[in-house]
Amino acid sequence: MVYNEASRIFKLDTAHTSYLIGLVDEEGFIGHAYFGKTISDSNAGYLMRTGEPPFVPSQNGRDRSSFFDAFPMEFPGCNTGDYRESAIEVLDEGGHNGVEIIYRDHRIFAGKPTPKGLPATFGGDDDCMTLEIDGVDKTLGLEVTLRYSVFADADVVARSVSVKNASDQPIFLTRLMSASLDMDMEPVQENYKLLTLHGSWARERHMEFREIGRGKVSVGSTRGESSHQEHPFMALVSEKADQENGSVYGFHFVYSGNFIAQVERTQFDSLRVQMGIHPKNFCWQLKPGESFEAPEVILTYSAEGLGGMSRTLHDLYRNHLIRSPYKDKKRPILINNWEATYFDFNTEKLLDIAREAKKAGIEMLVMDDGWFGYRNDDNTSLGDWTVNEKKLPGGLKHLVDEVNKIGLKFGIWFEPEMISPDSDLYRAHPDWAIAIPDRTPCRSRNQYVLDLTRREVVEYVYHAVARVLQEANIEYVKWDMNRQLTDLGSVYLGRENQGELSHRYVLAVYELQERLTRQFPELLLENCSGGGARFDPGMLYYSPQIWCSDDTDAIERLVIQEGTALIYPLSTMGAHVSDCPNHTVGRNTPFSTRGNVALAGTFGYELDITKISEEDRAQIPEQVKLYHKYNDLVRRGDYYRIASYRENHFFDCYEVVAKDKREALITCVQVMRRPNYHSRMIKLAGLDANLRYRNEETGEVYYGDTLMNAGIPVQEMWGDFQSRLIHLTAEEE
Ligand code: DGJ
Repeated sequence: MVYNEASRIFKLDTAHTSYLIGLVDEEGFIGHAYFGKTISDSNAGYLMRTGEPPFVPSQNGRDRSSFFDAFPMEFPGCNTGDYRESAIEVLDEGGHNGVEIIYRDHRIFAGKPTPKGLPATFGGDDDCMTLEIDGVDKTLGLEVTLRYSVFADADVVARSVSVKNASDQPIFLTRLMSASLDMDMEPVQENYKLLTLHGSWARERHMEFREIGRGKVSVGSTRGESSHQEHPFMALVSEKADQENGSVYGFHFVYSGNFIAQVERTQFDSLRVQMGIHPKNFCWQLKPGESFEAPEVILTYSAEGLGGMSRTLHDLYRNHLIRSPYKDKKRPILINNWEATYFDFNTEKLLDIAREAKKAGIEMLVMDDGWFGYRNDDNTSLGDWTVNEKKLPGGLKHLVDEVNKIGLKFGIWFEPEMISPDSDLYRAHPDWAIAIPDRTPCRSRNQYVLDLTRREVVEYVYHAVARVLQEANIEYVKWDMNRQLTDLGSVYLGRENQGELSHRYVLAVYELQERLTRQFPELLLENCSGGGARFDPGMLYYSPQIWCSDDTDAIERLVIQEGTALIYPLSTMGAHVSDCPNHTVGRNTPFSTRGNVALAGTFGYELDITKISEEDRAQIPEQVKLYHKYNDLVRRGDYYRIASYRENHFFDCYEVVAKDKREALITCVQVMRRPNYHSRMIKLAGLDANLRYRNEETGEVYYGDTLMNAGIPVQEMWGDFQSRLIHLTAEEE
């Protein structure tokens, strides 16, 4: 990381990328010069084209807007001549919203500051450098610090912003992007497509590519969580790129609430890329002296296609985001009773499941929704976190002790952020629900959302959960959230602060999980939100794994897990084997395929093991063995997408290669049997060309270059939904 005094250019280098920021001499505008594959010059101010008329601002005061509307701004202000989207907007006491950020100072130092109350990547003095650029709007008295932390080896720049009101009057922030980049993407040479992840309940994170036309295209959430529907991620993917080659820019927001990710293609074909908290319903009051810290955005450039981006993000999150003591450990194989019993269970039923699970080698029983209050369906009791003794006589302690005696660990489900209208909590505190005064709030799954902007509500929630965890030997918590926010209103917040609700809500969730994981440091926390609606880097800071989707069908999971693994390490993907016909889509798939697909994630079961067929049950010990055999590799290895059922509609294949390249596991799923095919030749990736690999199944030995360039035959299997694992190990030299 260098600052070239002469050219007034900051140059931030990672192993394979450069990021250049330039200061424009007279005015002190902060410009974006370059982001992409490594370049050598630190004096490349010409990239900002400030010398090209009519864009020289000092020489063209008469027509300043032609400068502002074209200059690549590093953090564009508002209402002063740049008609493109602003990175920051305010309302001042006079009701005006003009902002213009001018360079004032900067610092470069080793390490990375830890933001207060927000999740963020972490780095030490040895693996991370930070540049802070201070800018100021003198008219407003607003100070802005642009922060860039560079993980050189990891090939990542983490960008964030903080804003301070240094005036003597309140200022309202109405838009604050965490990152804004004006990228020169000359379409004459290379066109970029936009890749985003979209979905719904039970079909999260499906990949979608689209053309970037002129104007703006954005994805976002205003649902109070990162959401099933859209994802706080986008990538610019060169039309020339594929899985292993070509340019891909990835942008990923370390945040779990409302977000916007937007690309604007301008009149000059440059792209303004922005990511931050969604401005809708956002209005944050900064009193004199107060500051606001925006969550960070991860920026990465890969010259090795989508796969390069995936591996960069996987390593970053494994090494610099997830903090749990479980992050490097094999997770206990769990059996969850949700799809087994739904609300219809009692101690005896759970113990029956536990006994049978133990015989099969399963290691933990997780009791899902329905153990508290009088919750026998999803209409009641959220907020009343006392055990239902009718279902669990003798209470939690008795149940957990019995499960432990059987030889299993015990985990429990909570939905701490919610309140049922039919609950003792709601009867005592109806104003604890988020609602607009005099308006009946919208129910979703017949529940309301707790107003976590209120201190007493946060305290109640925290102690309710902590008290349960202290009652018995509980080693795992599934933290669920089954509805999104509506009717944004808080009786606690004043008129001027209602626009802070959604962000304060997310900060409170972070605070609750931070306290919980500190008080119970050995706890394995799994986040969940009606499946995978809050699967985001923010939550990974608190929990090493997140429930990927309520859709446990092996074939649906291929697409969901492909989109998830595009940006998240496999070690984070909650994946279970469930019963058939599948409860979401009614599909029947072989038990072995369900197992092979779940092995790509955390692995566990979600079925009534006492009721499934003997044939299926007999396969569990075998699958358990596979999990123990392969999980270290799956958790730690490099992920390669080989073929995509999403694209070709009949065959899926992915590979995990050990960091030392001495082992690889390839998962093939033949979704549709094709007649009159005997085998397909699948080219592998990521192996050492000069090592010889033994195929464990066939005993055959081939060089890595042969397997990568010529391929390995995968025999066609009989029937649909069939799958196969291929295990390769390097021969001793
Ligand atoms: C949604 C989760 O995703 C499910 O796994 C289950 O925990 C239910 N909620 C329980 O209500």
